[in-house]
Amino acid sequence: MKPKILITRKLKSESIAPLYENFDVDMWNLEDEVMPRDQLLDRVKGVNAILCILTDNIDRELLDAAGDQLSVVGTVSVGFDHIDTAELEARNIKLESVVGILNESVADLTIALMINSSRRISESIDAARNGEWSTWSPYWLTGRDLSQSTVGIIGLGAIGEAVAKRLSGFGCNVIYNSRSPKPELEQSLGVSYRNLDDLLAESDFVTIHNALTPETEKMCNSEFFSKMKNTAIFINTGRGGLVDQEALYDALSSGQIYAAGIDVTTPEPLPTNHPLFSLKNCTILPHIGSASIRTRDEMVESVVRKLASHL
Ligand code: DGY
Repeated sequence: MKPKILITRKLKSESIAPLYENFDVDMWNLEDEVMPRDQLLDRVKGVNAILCILTDNIDRELLDAAGDQLSVVGTVSVGFDHIDTAELEARNIKLESVVGILNESVADLTIALMINSSRRISESIDAARNGEWSTWSPYWLTGRDLSQSTVGIIGLGAIGEAVAKRLSGFGCNVIYNSRSPKPELEQSLGVSYRNLDDLLAESDFVTIHNALTPETEKMCNSEFFSKMKNTAIFINTGRGGLVDQEALYDALSSGQIYAAGIDVTTPEPLPTNHPLFSLKNCTILPHIGSASIRTRDEMVESVVRKLASHL
């Protein structure tokens, strides 16, 4: 009997083709729809591997339903806050995720959000489309420059590093905060370490790239925003859970900070009547950080390879 793999999302058949010869593959077949939990709990029974994505909650209940033969879980994401990793470890189930593939795409989008929020691009597109463009006007839709600004990167992992590299081309002064200073990167990237308070006080842009853990959950709260400059811009392409969204709303609507660009929210999708959508100085994207065709294909293909080689 071939080992069984459950794939919880409809993925491109060419990307998963390498699995068909040696494995018994069960793939959810509705495009862009999450496999309902009851189906997941049913179809996971007896599988040797699960290929999931970040909308699947891989918890104790699911692992119990799968059974003892489950030996590997692969997620098409770099983050794994949707997976109970302690439970996986306790059961000796290997976790495979995406490493080193999406850094450049997410860094590109982080820069895009910085420029969008500082130069008010979303607002400008709406203004042109809505007939508000009457003439060239010296002060209309003026914003702030990314060039020559001070950018604070919180979390200098692979994505933070890729952001820092890009910022050197903009002549930015890049400062960073992480659990501990990283002297080896300071030289090569031209960045310098700050404690969190100093980083927030000095930065014209603050971009957060920490993983979501119990320690980092809602770390961007009212105290955090109160330490930022009134002219500063907040960017989040990591996880919505890092941010206290009510505090972000208050900071943006009161003028405590200038603007925000966020690719991730809690929940996802963010309901369209959420107060953050009512703010002109808040740009919200639907979690597209890694959504380039090449990156998404490589993400799937790398997890497929890892599962096959594990099994
Ligand atoms: C990840 O991989 O964790 C991203 O958020 C998906 O783009």
